[in-house]
Amino acid sequence: MKINVISIFPDVMETILSMGMLGVADKKALVEFKVVDPRDFTEDRHRTVDDEPYGGGGGMILMAPPIVDAVESLDVAKGSPVVLLSPAGRQFDQVMAKRFASELEMTFVCGRYKGVDERVRELVITEEVSIGDFVLSGGELAAGVCIESIVRLVGDVLGNQETSETDSFASKRDYLLDCTYYTRPVEYRGHRVPDVLLSGHHKEIENWRHESSLDRTRRLRPDLLNKKN
Ligand code: ADE
Repeated sequence: MKINVISIFPDVMETILSMGMLGVADKKALVEFKVVDPRDFTEDRHRTVDDEPYGGGGGMILMAPPIVDAVESLDVAKGSPVVLLSPAGRQFDQVMAKRFASELEMTFVCGRYKGVDERVRELVITEEVSIGDFVLSGGELAAGVCIESIVRLVGDVLGNQETSETDSFASKRDYLLDCTYYTRPVEYRGHRVPDVLLSGHHKEIENWRHESSLDRTRRLRPDLLNKKN
């Protein structure tokens, strides 16, 4: 899978993309990252990418030409997602992560400042995505969040596919939180690992884990109980 990112902070983005599982996926050639700086598509001495909004008001707006030129320089296949990260977008979730993970190529455009010139949306953006109802100063961390959750679903990145198949939200039918887990020691400060997990009975363990998933979802995220994948 090829993932492109348009950002006026290419160093920040390159650092995020080289860390942990993303760095491993890159090294294993399971993904190919490309970061493009819109400043490389400016013509003035200051490499200006932003300006004041027409009509006044505070804040700076990312200009259309450097962003649109940066996206067009990638020459992405027709129909490949070009996603603008902004608090106005549709909320990112695991279903969206799976859809993006099935693409051969996709592009994230990181917004900044007060927003982007509307012509960016009109000319190159195919959808707008938010990571939650809060405002960041820019889309770089949001892109990192989305890319991390997409790439862990690609091919054999995790080494053990089962690991992502049992993640919270990963079931084909339900939208449940993952169960609780324990590892050594069996007893810690008077808290014991449930006996069933030590029993070796796979069917009973599976049942216990399903109950644990339901219990955690009821307690922590009851809003998910009626949600279907
Ligand atoms: N840029 C600024 N805030 C954002 C958010 N909540 N999600 C995605 N991109 C953003």
